[in-house]
Amino acid sequence: MDVKINDLSLTYGDFTAVEHLGLHISDGESLVLLGQSGCGKTSTMRCVAGLEDPSGGSIAIGGTTVFDAAAGLNVAPNKRNVGLVFQSYAVWPHMTVLENVSFPLRMKRRPKAEIRTRALETLELVGLAHLADKGASLLSGGQMQRVALARSLAMEPNVMLLDEPLSNLDARLREDLRVELRRLQLELGLTSIYVTHDQGEALALADRIAIMQHGRISQLSTPVETYRSPASASIAEFLGVANIFPVAAPRAGERRLRLAGHDVEIAADAVVPPGDDLSVCIRPEHVRVRTEPRDAGPNSWQGTVTVSVFQGSFIRCSVALDAGPTLEVQTQDASVVLRQHDRVHVEIDPAHVQVLPREAGPAAAAPGPGAAGEADRARPGDAAPRTSHDRPVAAAATREG
Ligand SMILES: Nc1ncnc2c1ncn2[C@@H]1O[C@H](COP(=O)(O)OP(=O)(O)OP(=O)(O)O)[C@@H](O)[C@H]1O
Ligand SMILES: [Mg+2]
Repeated sequence: MDVKINDLSLTYGDFTAVEHLGLHISDGESLVLLGQSGCGKTSTMRCVAGLEDPSGGSIAIGGTTVFDAAAGLNVAPNKRNVGLVFQSYAVWPHMTVLENVSFPLRMKRRPKAEIRTRALETLELVGLAHLADKGASLLSGGQMQRVALARSLAMEPNVMLLDEPLSNLDARLREDLRVELRRLQLELGLTSIYVTHDQGEALALADRIAIMQHGRISQLSTPVETYRSPASASIAEFLGVANIFPVAAPRAGERRLRLAGHDVEIAADAVVPPGDDLSVCIRPEHVRVRTEPRDAGPNSWQGTVTVSVFQGSFIRCSVALDAGPTLEVQTQDASVVLRQHDRVHVEIDPAHVQVLPREAGPAAAAPGPGAAGEADRARPGDAAPRTSHDRPVAAAATREG
């Protein structure tokens, strides 16, 4: 069922945790709320679940209004049929796995045989049928979280609300469960709201990502759009774009920009937007580094490696430019050997230079593309990025001689 959040505000005393938030999640869509700690993700989720008393706005699930501040309506959590999975493993330790999953169905007074069949089917879905009779306290963290998930799924909820459900698990398990969650979401056509501050998780699980900052949604777009075209420098920074430099005296329409505090000009293919608080943003993987000069393009500088770290599938290093700031560089070329103090040439294709305002205004609350299965998660044309970020970045660096 779809979820419509309209002009929602939530205050704790005189602190505003959610501010005029609008969001329309389509039936079957997986929406990920992504944002820094304290930006209001859990608060928003709790409003949808019916666990808060918001100060303004309205919420409808499947066309039924469950909250309306103006009308004084706030439907109780257990009447909303939402499934909740939280970070802590909310599993009853004194029950078996099967009893845990059966519990909400028993509360709903379903026939005994149906409860057993449904609970076992759901355990099958999350890959735990073989542990049905095991005591829940004997499970690992990952298994417990699957039980919590199965228990919510067994209720056939209208909406699944997942608040950092994987954050207590170790990295490997988190990645496995992430893929499994996405499979379940697509297979069951679940409408879900998933909260995380992990961008990898967001990119993997979302049909659309809602970036949340200071109680508001500042960007709402597909994972590909979000990654390629952050709406502001502060979002780019949150998404791990390491090279962000304020522009000195920007002029709308100009394509050569001087970096504030440095005697460096940088060329951008993108049209520079209006505004006087602009930054140049460049992903580390878009900086080419060579030990030998080649025909110098527009953004080509000399510098010195200050640190270089081998990360297995890539090398990360910092290059202090002779005339300017330090650039973070990431290269996948395993043949490149870069050491501290090495003299290098760096180059940035103007197509990979984004010029963004410091902050973005609130995003529109438009509905998503529909059922998750149909949602085209990679629609390069959609984002209309002016830069050609889809160009392969491999072989970004070479070491000759
Ligand atoms: N019960 C409360 N009373 C007062 N302030 C609260 C309460 N719950 C949350 N807040 C404040 O509201 C803001 C948003 O909190 P929220 O839990 O929604 O953040 P979050 O985005 O989920 O963060 P995290 O990623 O750390 O879980 C925070 O500044 C928090 O301190
Ligand atoms: Mg939270």
